[in-house]
Amino acid sequence: MKISVIGSGHVGLITGVCFAEKGHEILCVDHDKDKLAKLKKGEVPFFEPDLPELLQKHVASKKLVFSDRTEDAVEFGQAIFICVGTPSTERGKADMSYVEKVARTIAENLKDYRLVIEKSTVPIKTGERIRRTIGRYVRGDVHFDVASNPEFLREGSAIYDTLNPDRVVVGVDSAKGESLLREIYGGFNCPIVVTSVGSAELIKHASNSFLALKITYANWLSRLCEASGADIEQVVHGMGLDKRIGHHFFGAGIGYGGSCFPKDVDALAHISEELGVDAPMIRLISDTNKSQLERFYQRIESELWVLHDKTLAIWGLAFKPNTDDLREAPALRLIDKLKAAGAKLRVHDPVAMPNTRKLHPDLYYAKDPIDAASGADALIVCTEWPQYKEADLAKVKASIRVPMIFDGRNCIDRKKAAELGMTLFGIGKAPVKPAE
Ligand code: UGA
Repeated sequence: MKISVIGSGHVGLITGVCFAEKGHEILCVDHDKDKLAKLKKGEVPFFEPDLPELLQKHVASKKLVFSDRTEDAVEFGQAIFICVGTPSTERGKADMSYVEKVARTIAENLKDYRLVIEKSTVPIKTGERIRRTIGRYVRGDVHFDVASNPEFLREGSAIYDTLNPDRVVVGVDSAKGESLLREIYGGFNCPIVVTSVGSAELIKHASNSFLALKITYANWLSRLCEASGADIEQVVHGMGLDKRIGHHFFGAGIGYGGSCFPKDVDALAHISEELGVDAPMIRLISDTNKSQLERFYQRIESELWVLHDKTLAIWGLAFKPNTDDLREAPALRLIDKLKAAGAKLRVHDPVAMPNTRKLHPDLYYAKDPIDAASGADALIVCTEWPQYKEADLAKVKASIRVPMIFDGRNCIDRKKAAELGMTLFGIGKAPVKPAE
């Protein structure tokens, strides 16, 4: 099928590339001409495993073409996916101006039936607003449908997630719209859940908030573990074996980040309150997440006594492994606090250093993890990249000034650290300390 995708960011580009992989003909639209020039050459403007290869494959196969005009999208695809940004404003209210502008442009250029599908994460009732907007601005008596098809891909495994989803959710109120969506997803081997537009919108926000709640529950439990002498990894393992609970997204750390969970939790609370439903539980997720990082900082400060003029190594800057995305990254919040306290920072990340340098040109960007640790008064781990889990702790010990590690992701080998006589503070675990 001919499909248009408006907005070629993380969601739009991956959607377009994966639909091309499933045999559809795709037009991806973006207003950023520099970005389009790169995409046409097969260059991806952010780090995402497997994306460059698949992009190059389908630019070459001509299954994937690009344009900077939304008008072209209306002409090209019988189905039009809206994948533009919905940035957060105060207390979780989403800025819908990009979505609204796209809806008007679609209306003004509509000549034949089109199925318009919102894929950006949007507040409940957005589908209804898009439908009304198109209805107001359309010229003549042209038929159209509006559907919701939320995406559940994770950065860092976006291609895999999109090609192998647990389920596809389609919120659609017309038989024609449903049959087009079933055709689009015909090549995907998973259940297709058909709901009303509003239910599909809520499934997306509620899923992200539920996962954020589960992580936050583990983070809160980690505090109880620290206070009681229990071990968070043993506790969540024992709990997670209960199939009703499960192990996924149950790892304690320094808090969730990224462009989705923080924004979507706040948005769900905002929408609920707007609809007259109090959301103290949802608001608490966000507050508890922020205080998790604060507690980590306080731990560092209390152990090191004075941070001014201390040299600290940081491993991991991205909000999670396998991405160079820094949006709401816990490491960035920590860097701000440590800098304000007068610490000197030696940082490392396998892919997120160029993006960090734009925000913090004054840090020392290390050539490898051992270089970062060299001469430091302590090492802080913010992202659980595989190279940090596998790092040679003997080399760290040989190059660091004080062999002390604050492991914000419980990813450093505790046994090895103990054998080497290092001090290791994890999250929700008894510290490893050499005998004094
Ligand atoms: C999240 C959802 O997982 C996707 O399903 C959804 O499509 C996406 O948001 C979106 O709305 O677009 P993403 O933000 O890319 O995906 O990354 P996640 O893998 O969900 O991680 C989010 C944060 O949670 C990271 O900071 C990660 O470190 C943290 N996390 C994750 C934990 O602290 N503990 C865990 O056990 C798992």
